[in-house]
Amino acid sequence: MVNMMKQGRSLISCSAVGVLLVALMATLHAPTVNGANILGVFTSHSPSHLIIHMSVMKALAEEGHNVTVVSSMPAKVTHKSIKHILIPLSESEEKTLNDGMAVMAKEKPSMFTTLKTMFGSLGLLINKQVDVLEDERFTELYKNKGNKFDAVFVGFFFNMYQVGLGAKFNCPLIVSWSGPPMEQVDNVIGNPILTSSVPTMNVVVTPGQPMNFKQRLTNLLSTLGFRVFATFLEYKNSGFYTRLFGNDPTMPSYADARKNVSLIFCNSHGISEGPIRPNVPGVVEIGGIQIKEKPDALPQDIKEFLDNSKHGAILFSLGINLKGDHIKQSTIQKIFKVLSGLKQNVIWKWDDLKNTPGKSANILYKKWLPQDDILAHPKIKLFITHAGKGGVAEAQYHAVPMLALPVFADQPGNADKLVRSGYGLRVDLLSLEPAEFKAALEEVLQNPSFAKKLQQFSKLYRDRPMTARESVIYWTNYVLRHHGAAHMQSPLVRMNAIESNNLDLYVLLGLALGIVIAINIALFKCVCRKCFGKRCAKKNAQKSKVKKN
Ligand SMILES: *[C@@H]1O[C@H](CO)[C@@H](O)[C@H](O)[C@H]1NC(C)=O
Ligand SMILES: *[C@@H]1O[C@H](CO)[C@@H](O)[C@H](O)[C@H]1NC(C)=O
Repeated sequence: MVNMMKQGRSLISCSAVGVLLVALMATLHAPTVNGANILGVFTSHSPSHLIIHMSVMKALAEEGHNVTVVSSMPAKVTHKSIKHILIPLSESEEKTLNDGMAVMAKEKPSMFTTLKTMFGSLGLLINKQVDVLEDERFTELYKNKGNKFDAVFVGFFFNMYQVGLGAKFNCPLIVSWSGPPMEQVDNVIGNPILTSSVPTMNVVVTPGQPMNFKQRLTNLLSTLGFRVFATFLEYKNSGFYTRLFGNDPTMPSYADARKNVSLIFCNSHGISEGPIRPNVPGVVEIGGIQIKEKPDALPQDIKEFLDNSKHGAILFSLGINLKGDHIKQSTIQKIFKVLSGLKQNVIWKWDDLKNTPGKSANILYKKWLPQDDILAHPKIKLFITHAGKGGVAEAQYHAVPMLALPVFADQPGNADKLVRSGYGLRVDLLSLEPAEFKAALEEVLQNPSFAKKLQQFSKLYRDRPMTARESVIYWTNYVLRHHGAAHMQSPLVRMNAIESNNLDLYVLLGLALGIVIAINIALFKCVCRKCFGKRCAKKNAQKSKVKKN
């Protein structure tokens, strides 16, 4: 008995040593980064962008990091340990933004109104972000010397001057972007911009097919057009940078701060979604970070409503930006007429529950919806959506066919892309007619090809070496472990447009070729004169005689 106890004890101490050893080896292998202080600065006034950024922060908080977030909007996604500092817009600014969206959703926008609203709202969206960084609640974070951050995240939305925060907090800087790699983020990380093979957001190309002449031309022209806009923005950015950091002599210049971005997290997955393109190691794709790997339990009323849908169910949501009163009353009545006549149950996202479009046994109105969890429910057969990037990704992940009613920004492009991929159909919200809407609904509900295509996609989308969450954690810890990622920076970051396109070399080669050709011509002339000189002279003499006569 005593023996056995002794043996037991030595076994325990043996295994304790073993555990220690394993732990030690693990630390030697990939040193864990415990409880780093991480700051997230998300000043863009877009709820859908904030969902992406906050999903990144949540993954890091769950990993045990000490996360502080500054944002201009309250967050839907969060974690109990995240410290949140909210610096909101004023009510009147909020109203201006809302009105801009209402205009676009109610009238067929002319080129002029589109540009006017775009520049009006965009101008406000861009300018307001600087105010957030000037607010005391934010400046306190670096003035208070007790704060020490190990990494700072900046949510990109036409605000590259915020890269200065890396130097301000004296720590590595990571950019979080809610879309696939695009020109402005490509530039700061040195990702190549390829107008011949990588379509921009408004050009749709069938996967695996080359871009034809027209597509390449459109792509080149829109890239150049966007570059004009970007150049103007850079001019503004540099002004904002001076305004924010100009009187701090310890700060680098804006041009230098731009060369100090460690990583960019892009909310995309090129392999399954396209476009197929080369990315430098500093571009880390985390497409679908906002999608839960395992859905949460649904609220009881929604769960019962879905479970009892004998003929399947439909989710109808036009996103968070667009409120019910942004859409023409007559359009809403047309939509209601069609949806209330279906045999499927419908969950309709609607803000004003006192004033619903109409009562119908098959419609459940909800002000707020756990969209991702609902789309994961097996009874959901169709998602009627404004085709925002987030919702489309969720529907694709859960293989739910879509009917797109896009309104503005990247939505029409997303809608075209999902139609072209065979994931659903598109109807114009502004000119919606009941017959056409109903026909499109029935086609998507009855034709099994949409669901089949989506199931294939969903398999590809989920098949990755690391999940989106794991990628966020691994690469953030990587930057923390190595205090930045200067060793893997693309040389393009430090090359100007002339150098990165070899323009100087082409000019030099052109000149050299010109000189060679000129020498050859001169030589040829010389040889020609030597050999045929006399005959030529005679002929010329004859000619001039003829002329004189
Ligand atoms: C977490 O970060 C905040 C902000 O820098 C800091 O005030 C706080 O002390 C940190 N907490 C821990 C446990 O390090
Ligand atoms: C670059 O980042 C490092 C940390 O990785 C920081 O200490 C430094 O101040 C930054 N330099 C510039 C020019 O932004």
